[in-house]
Amino acid sequence: MQGIKAIEFKDDKLFLIDQRKLPVLFETFICESYQDVEFAIRDMVVRGAPAIGATAAYGVVLAAKEFKNQNKENFLENMGKACDDLNQARPTAVNLMWAIKRMKSIIELNKNLDVIEIHQMLEKEADIILAEDIEINKLMAKHGNEIVPQNATILTHCNTGALATAGYGTALGVIREAHYSGKDIFVYADETRPRLQGGRLTAWELKQENIPSKLIADSVAATLIRDKNIDLILVGADRIALNGDTANKIGTFMLSVVAKVYGVPFYVVAPTSTIDFDIETGEEINIEERSSEEVTHIRGNRVAPENVEVFNPAFDVTPNENITGIITEKGIVRAPFRENILKIK
Ligand code: MRU
Repeated sequence: MQGIKAIEFKDDKLFLIDQRKLPVLFETFICESYQDVEFAIRDMVVRGAPAIGATAAYGVVLAAKEFKNQNKENFLENMGKACDDLNQARPTAVNLMWAIKRMKSIIELNKNLDVIEIHQMLEKEADIILAEDIEINKLMAKHGNEIVPQNATILTHCNTGALATAGYGTALGVIREAHYSGKDIFVYADETRPRLQGGRLTAWELKQENIPSKLIADSVAATLIRDKNIDLILVGADRIALNGDTANKIGTFMLSVVAKVYGVPFYVVAPTSTIDFDIETGEEINIEERSSEEVTHIRGNRVAPENVEVFNPAFDVTPNENITGIITEKGIVRAPFRENILKIK
């Protein structure tokens, strides 16, 4: 079906598809240290909430490899620092913090073992996180496919596919499932300025598998929705608050507003690891702001005047009242969100 492996760990090295270069170049970025991993997440060699989480888990493994000849006390101290550094690589996708927390709990649970054994336990846990993510995506895809009508035209934003996860994808996983179950779907992919994850990555994934699709500039979406050309909108998430407010790629909120005006179902597809059970509303989500060059330049070419001031938030928050449902591996959550999100904790 699909063999894109964005993340692979072997021989004490982490191999990432370099997503900064797709689709023009298909290159592998090799991480040999946790600092390499931190850079890869920060610079978006790897991106997408679940992919960032799994990658960070292997960052912890690489840190353990680096420190495994130290005594226990120094090892534990340095591991704490490495986890903190990795945790800060990007601020919005909670899967990063979720994965680091899970890896730290392995260290805590096994702190009486020798350092070599802790290193082995950490590698095992990172492998589990990666393998589980694919299974979770397939479950979400099955639940999500239930709400996809025959012959549906689906609009999606950013990249939520195999590249953004351990494999298969979240929103794009539902799209894959609908396609392979024979529903004769058609997909419009927003190009997703400024980083063009839709144009560079989603369009590439859709093409790889011959899923019928068209790429559109972000500003085309409202016209398509108004003209009744869209049956369903599927997007991913970077962090979901207890009340269902959802942070996702910048532009998602705008889509949700238009969808609400024209009565088009708007679904978020995300694993429960993307739910931040510690925050009540989207107001508590830290929205990453990225460099002005992402807006002033395209592929290294200036497209705006020199020294222009730029506002470049990477994500926005869609309020729960604009969301028809949240498709998770445990089923589809609908309003009242707080009550129903707590049921799947
Ligand atoms: O900045 P990015 O490319 O990491 O943002 C990715 C998104 O916003 C995705 O929609 C989200 O992480 C869900 S991916 C399965």
